[in-house]
Amino acid sequence: MSLLFSPLRLRSITLKNRIAMSPMCQYSAEGGRATEWHLVHYPTRAVGGAGLILVEATAVEARGVISPEDLGIWSDDHLPGLTELARRIKSAGAVAGIQIAHAGRKAGVLPPWKGGRPLHQWTPVAPSPLAFAEGWPVPQALDPAGLEEVRWAFQQAAKRALLAGFEVLEIHMAHGYLLHSFLSPLTNHRKDQYGGSREGRMRFPLQVAEAVREVWPAELPLLVRVSAVDWVEDGWSLEDTIVLAEALRRRGVDLLDCSSGGAIPGVRIPLAPGYQVPFAAEVRKVTGLATGAVGLITEPFQAEAILQQGQADLILLGRALLREPYWPYRAGQALGFKAWPPQYERAF
Ligand SMILES: Cc1cc2nc3c(=O)[nH]c(=O)nc-3n(C[C@H](O)[C@H](O)[C@H](O)COP(=O)(O)O)c2cc1C
Repeated sequence: MSLLFSPLRLRSITLKNRIAMSPMCQYSAEGGRATEWHLVHYPTRAVGGAGLILVEATAVEARGVISPEDLGIWSDDHLPGLTELARRIKSAGAVAGIQIAHAGRKAGVLPPWKGGRPLHQWTPVAPSPLAFAEGWPVPQALDPAGLEEVRWAFQQAAKRALLAGFEVLEIHMAHGYLLHSFLSPLTNHRKDQYGGSREGRMRFPLQVAEAVREVWPAELPLLVRVSAVDWVEDGWSLEDTIVLAEALRRRGVDLLDCSSGGAIPGVRIPLAPGYQVPFAAEVRKVTGLATGAVGLITEPFQAEAILQQGQADLILLGRALLREPYWPYRAGQALGFKAWPPQYERAF
């Protein structure tokens, strides 16, 4: 009996299998609005059999885009495109989810294939006025009014995601973007109640989670993506993540999506198949919170084993699904499950 192809219930939502498309920026939006690319790209993975599609990091504020070609959700102008996107994902058989994000001090860069360098078109915001690297802008430290604006923006984004028809929401607290940069002592040097101790550094991200949960319906699941570790001594650690996971669970978060890194450049990350799985496993074991495993998971039996060993509840696939939108069909064949739709029956 394959666990990968068994349903996962999160609140009132049932994913038909444990395969999720990991959020991946497409750098193809116009003024934050979805384009034809999104309307084809995401539903293709839904037809391909993933149970959950998590739409890419979608910016809650204009100053919080990674690149100006990112999807946005800071204005009602973004609603028609996002609504059509959610509708198409659902009609192709998957649950439609979206990641809401604020890039913080890493905002305002060119897409990777155009070099990824900072554009210096606006001053980004962050917990502390520390540039990401040489040649990057020095961000403005958020004051109490600025914090309130960002919290409100996340809340408005959650309301719009609901209006657009998404049923799973993920808050981006990873990869060195705004909320992660509050958590990590490498990037948060504040002396007020939003910095200092772990409790202080967790305060703002937890307030955002509370504000989002307040407006995101009780019957719908809320996910959070974290960088479980900074891979730097004196950085954010797995022990910190476990404390954060408990705090998020108490605030109504249903699953922790365990990624890593991104706070500072030049960090050596020991890339290997499933290299982040131990984080998902430990959080799940210690806190009992459901977890998602992500990162170099590429093979059906590898994914199945992670679930069988109780290391995670959900498998997120990133690049594997870019290369192979129909990965779930192949996984189904390997694991003895018919993952393709009846329309394709004669092909197998
Ligand atoms: C093109 C691309 C865009 C990405 N954009 C996002 C994003 O918007 N949000 C996010 O949390 N992670 C993003 N990531 C990270 C992926 O979601 C995933 O965690 C990472 O690629 C590792 O998983 P994989 O080995 O299965 O690709 C991106 C990765 C790629 C390759």
